[in-house]
Amino acid sequence: MKTLVELNDLSVVFKQPNNVSIHALNGIDLKIFQNETLGLIGESGSGKSTLGKTMLGLNPYGGNINIFNETLNIEDKNLVNNIRKEIGVVFQEPFQSLNPRMKIKNILSEPLIIHNKSITKDEIEIKTQKAMESVLLEKDQLEKYPSQLSGGQQQRIGIARAIINNPKLVILDEPTSSLDLSVRNDVLRLLKNIQSEFGLTYLFISHDIHTIKNISDKTAVMYLGSIMEYGDTNKVISEPKHPYTRALLSSVLSANPDEKREQIKLVGEIPKITSLPKGCLFKTRCPNPSEDCSKGTVERKLKEINDGHFVDQCCANCG
Ligand SMILES: Nc1ncnc2c1ncn2[C@@H]1O[C@H](COP(=O)(O)OP(=O)(O)OP(=O)(O)O)[C@@H](O)[C@H]1O
Ligand SMILES: [Mg+2]
Repeated sequence: MKTLVELNDLSVVFKQPNNVSIHALNGIDLKIFQNETLGLIGESGSGKSTLGKTMLGLNPYGGNINIFNETLNIEDKNLVNNIRKEIGVVFQEPFQSLNPRMKIKNILSEPLIIHNKSITKDEIEIKTQKAMESVLLEKDQLEKYPSQLSGGQQQRIGIARAIINNPKLVILDEPTSSLDLSVRNDVLRLLKNIQSEFGLTYLFISHDIHTIKNISDKTAVMYLGSIMEYGDTNKVISEPKHPYTRALLSSVLSANPDEKREQIKLVGEIPKITSLPKGCLFKTRCPNPSEDCSKGTVERKLKEINDGHFVDQCCANCG
């Protein structure tokens, strides 16, 4: 399978004016393969959106980002523009991400014009109409303003805008979180259909395990800006190896009311993102830390414990 994105030892630190440093991403190694959906799950503040934004060249970073066979260098504006052209982005709040003063047709033609100054009016019309067809909306909606559409229709426009330039990768940052359950399932189905129609690759960010289970081929679990577990979604969800993943899963209601699931409560303090511990980031909450874990001598790194199933190497050795 072709690797589309490879992150090596990726870190992002936001320096605050008061000299405080926010360690938003900490030593991330991750690959996104072509035509696949990688689900990124984790609590609020774990760094999910920062990961997406950093791949768009929006944050200074340490480590390495290889994307579409190029090494991202945020100083190289041409390179960043070329990479961004190949990435579509869909945000959580459809209404806030659509300019209320623009008609839908202008919202959709904007990315076409930004990335191709010489595009003709006819080409714009054909592409906007095709994008509307792909997201199952009628062409007469092109003359409307975002406020004249429902939340589900607005998110379909967000998706149409993200795919209109035939991107290689689409970053979906909580795209269904603000939608009603019935609309949410429609949008997820639509995303899957569009993915197979256009051969797209998705980075799907969510804090909802049901959604991740529904859409993702692979799943990465984030905690304090680090990946704790990664692998095939089925494996990660049915045989979680990391105590944090187990706790996340146990806090979710099962679709089967007869299924008794043990609630796992993690005790211990969550370290401050402004002063992270040495070594394992999970050691303050680990149910059974090894001696090396407590000392903080284990390097943060993923270890492959089964075919394609990775767990933080320190946590893999703890109970
Ligand atoms: N531009 C920024 N400047 C300073 N701190 C930032 C910036 N962007 C993000 N952060 C901080 O980085 C950490 C990770 O934020 P991020 O938005 O990536 O989390 P998230 O996992 O997407 O959370 P949520 O589920 O709430 O969207 C948080 O502590 C956040 O406050
Ligand atoms: Mg976020």
